[in-house]
Amino acid sequence: MRSELLRQMFEAFAQGNKNRFLDIANEVIQEEEKKHHHLLAKDLKDILKTVSNGRSISNGTAKSRYKDAIPIPRDTEKGFPLLEIKEFFLDWTDIILDQELMAALLQIVDEVRHVEVFASYGLQPKQKILFCGPPGTGKTFSVQVISAVLGYRLIHVRFDSIVSSFLGETAANLRKIFDFIKYGQWVVLFDEFDIIGKHRDDQHEHGEIKRVVNNFMQMLDDYVGESLLISTTNHHHLLDSGLWRRFDEILFFDLPEADQRKQLFQKYLRVFDIAKDVSLETLTDKTEDFSAADIARVCQEALKKSLLEGKKKIYLPELEWAIKEQNRRKSVERDHIA
Ligand SMILES: Nc1ncnc2c1ncn2[C@@H]1O[C@H](COP(=O)(O)OP(=O)(O)O)[C@@H](O)[C@H]1O
Ligand SMILES: [Mg+2]
Repeated sequence: MRSELLRQMFEAFAQGNKNRFLDIANEVIQEEEKKHHHLLAKDLKDILKTVSNGRSISNGTAKSRYKDAIPIPRDTEKGFPLLEIKEFFLDWTDIILDQELMAALLQIVDEVRHVEVFASYGLQPKQKILFCGPPGTGKTFSVQVISAVLGYRLIHVRFDSIVSSFLGETAANLRKIFDFIKYGQWVVLFDEFDIIGKHRDDQHEHGEIKRVVNNFMQMLDDYVGESLLISTTNHHHLLDSGLWRRFDEILFFDLPEADQRKQLFQKYLRVFDIAKDVSLETLTDKTEDFSAADIARVCQEALKKSLLEGKKKIYLPELEWAIKEQNRRKSVERDHIA
């Protein structure tokens, strides 16, 4: 925030000039929005609403009221939290995806923003979404971006932690999560919910697991709140065909094409000077089966090595070394899974 605005705000307060104060406050909000600090802008707007309702500012922000009102649900047995509430300062320029997928994500956000217009025609925005695709392609990251651009807080539900050794507890945990998200407007991420799917071949637990899946789908079906619910999976082929139609939208995330790989290198190397011997085309050719996350890692490793070697620029040998290291890592992972 500019110091001039800050000074004017203090003056308006000292003079008891509420209208002047509100004018400046609105200017501050607009500035924050321009900087893509949507959550902060929304918080500030919420605080102003309480002022215009005649209540005092010292009631606390919308954020702290939320937090005080309802405690975060915990696993009954082990006591760990079943979800995390997070905020991100990201926007669409942070993520590199193919055009069609990007358009679909923009549409999801646009629909949410038009919920009131839709309602007057008896229509609803897409609300229950499934993201599929290999690891490291930006599924979780996209949900973080969506939460930031919408200005909704992100509730991150990690399935590996809520699937209890007693499967009966898992259903109870899910119930607590859905009870919690009833209140408020969130982006809710059911991350890697295929953990349920993965267990399905296990004969011993098959019946129990199936019940948990059905439970989750039933709770998703019954949900009628104002949040956007996004589930992600790395193993969509393991999911029952019956599950697909329960989602309003299913989007596939793929490994990046050459053009996107080039953009990823540009994005993740941006912080450093790139030496003349580095050809982005060469890097793109050498990383055909790499995910976006793989490329991010290559760039970070190459940058670290260059810094440790006291270099002021990034040169080709460090990048080639990092690509080789990442290939080695990928083959270890492949062997481990196979
Ligand atoms: N499409 C992308 N564009 C830019 N960065 C990406 C992209 N996909 C992944 N990343 C980077 O890799 C990290 C891990 O990706 P993530 O979204 O967790 O993958 P997934 O959930 O698909 O397994 C992200 O936090 C981000 O730094
Ligand atoms: Mg993920």
